[in-house]
Amino acid sequence: MPVAIRSARLNDVLAILAIEQRAPHAAHWTAEQYKKLVGSGVVLVAEEAGQLCGFVCAKAVASEWEIENVVVAAEFFRRGIANELVSELIQRAANEAASGILLEVRESNLPARRLYEKHAFREVGRRRVYYRDPVEGAILYALRFDR
Ligand SMILES: CC(C)(COP(=O)(O)OP(=O)(O)OC[C@H]1O[C@@H](n2cnc3c(N)ncnc32)[C@H](O)[C@@H]1OP(=O)(O)O)[C@@H](O)C(=O)NCCC(=O)NCCS
Repeated sequence: MPVAIRSARLNDVLAILAIEQRAPHAAHWTAEQYKKLVGSGVVLVAEEAGQLCGFVCAKAVASEWEIENVVVAAEFFRRGIANELVSELIQRAANEAASGILLEVRESNLPARRLYEKHAFREVGRRRVYYRDPVEGAILYALRFDR
């Protein structure tokens, strides 16, 4: 069954939250925060046969975009869904003349780090004590568009 990538609507927020809350390594946000981002940022969802199976969300601050979260439901892992979500987000940022995309990720989150590296994000810094529960450092990644 093919997976479709589309912009999120307000009535996707409960399904987005359900996927996010089952992912311990994801950033955890409230429904209100996601609603706000659907309105003012970029939230893309992946859908298969009418079921939401993953999402990516980003904020644009001037020309700099920042990925806030990428989550795929565990039963859909390793089927290329995050790849498609991140590719589409990069395409949109490029189309809107962004100068680059930034993000932070837990040092231990190797699946996410490999995902970003595969999309040509490069490590640009580290923050030693950044996350809580458990305490962990962050790696900062950036993808720069050549203009
Ligand atoms: C990270 C995550 C989004 C990947 O989703 P996914 O749909 O399974 O990823 P894909 O199948 O599209 O894989 C894309 C690439 O990611 C990397 N990757 C994904 N899962 C991986 C794993 N378990 N181990 C190593 N690399 C992995 C690989 O580079 C992969 O490319 P490849 O298939 O050519 O090897 C998913 O594991 C997830 O939701 N994790 C929990 C939430 C989270 O940690 N989000 C990141 C917050 S910053």
